[in-house]
Amino acid sequence: MAIQSGIGQLMDDLGAALQAPGEILMLGGGNPAHIAEVQRHFRESMIALLDSGNRFERALGDYDPPEGNTEFIQAVAGLLREQLGWAIGPRNIALTNGSQSAFFVLFNLFAGECEQGGKKVLFPLTPEYIGYCDVGLTPGLFTARKPRIEHIDEHTFKYHIDFDRLDVADDIGAICVSRPTNPSGNVLTNEELERLGAAAETNGVPLIVDNAYGLPFPHIVFADAEPLWNENTIVCMSLSKLGLPGTRTGIVIAREEVIEMVARVNAVMSLAPGGIGATLAAELVRSGQILHISREVIGPFYQAKASKALAQFHRHLEGIPYYIHQPEGAFFLWLWLPELPITSQQLYERLKARNVIVVSGHHFFPGLGEPWTHRDECLRVSYAQSDDVVARGVRIIAEEVKRAYSAG
Ligand SMILES: Cc1ncc(COP(=O)(O)O)c(C=O)c1O
Repeated sequence: MAIQSGIGQLMDDLGAALQAPGEILMLGGGNPAHIAEVQRHFRESMIALLDSGNRFERALGDYDPPEGNTEFIQAVAGLLREQLGWAIGPRNIALTNGSQSAFFVLFNLFAGECEQGGKKVLFPLTPEYIGYCDVGLTPGLFTARKPRIEHIDEHTFKYHIDFDRLDVADDIGAICVSRPTNPSGNVLTNEELERLGAAAETNGVPLIVDNAYGLPFPHIVFADAEPLWNENTIVCMSLSKLGLPGTRTGIVIAREEVIEMVARVNAVMSLAPGGIGATLAAELVRSGQILHISREVIGPFYQAKASKALAQFHRHLEGIPYYIHQPEGAFFLWLWLPELPITSQQLYERLKARNVIVVSGHHFFPGLGEPWTHRDECLRVSYAQSDDVVARGVRIIAEEVKRAYSAG
């Protein structure tokens, strides 16, 4: 864990870009946009917190229980029960310091060395989230499958789970997908998710669904998608992509025994998860306003930005044999440059030298043992920053891509 990792490099780049004297076009990190209308709600929540008796003093002055802030957990359970019909109560929810730390806990609980030998987490579809790569306490914690690729039009493609290659062997301890998927912006279809759920259940392992961008909040989903929960599913959510990454608030929804384990690990690792984000968001959740903000403001905001960034790439990459994954959610475009004469890491370096930060695609294949040139042909580009920054970044990316192809 202490060696340099893809996620470590990404967070370093992000921190450096925010502090650099010259201008850096930051299309690399997972930082959400600062949406004025959404931030106004957070400001109002903070003012209400300061003005309501001693709630502010309690939020700062008391530890929460190891499963996290009680009033927020009750509000989230109520919302998910009423809005999505999930059969859950407060005992099905635990908070963590960001959902990133939930993956650390869950992956190491369900996989790694155990009495029956080594267990692994299966990613049924790579590319998959960079942040999973290095969380294993034991090496070789992951195994992954290549996707089936659907070509939608001349420059658009979509990944699907290749169920013909999805053997859930005895050494699998859990199955995990992000939906929407970081990096590709893919949203697994309802049918794919149901089939995965069935495969997990048949094999007696949990299905972990990373819902950091999903429904019902922050609702950065542009495709038709039904959320899914049952006793065999562990759904991980977060307040980060809503616009609160600084509060580090992750939400795990699972059957009670799993929640008890997460709470016990919380106690060991951090006594209790931080409660500021939970306290700040509790009323937004209880009132249901969080749904309105997510559906009416956050989702449309990113969808409009996706369309703009896509149009710019199509304009600037004309004449190049490129593909872009159909943007169905999250806030990234995933560029595939077949037979690129340089690796995506080299392209990343060239762009960095021109003050444009993106993420090289090769970081997004945790657990994929077999060789695949595709992994050195892709780039993740965030479109969460201002339109001007994205437009200038896209232009420079297109210039470097064209230069690489013409030199090759
Ligand atoms: C797919 C996905 N899952 C989880 C996370 C972790 O987010 P956080 O720890 O801020 O909740 C991120 C952050 O970028 C993400 O993109």
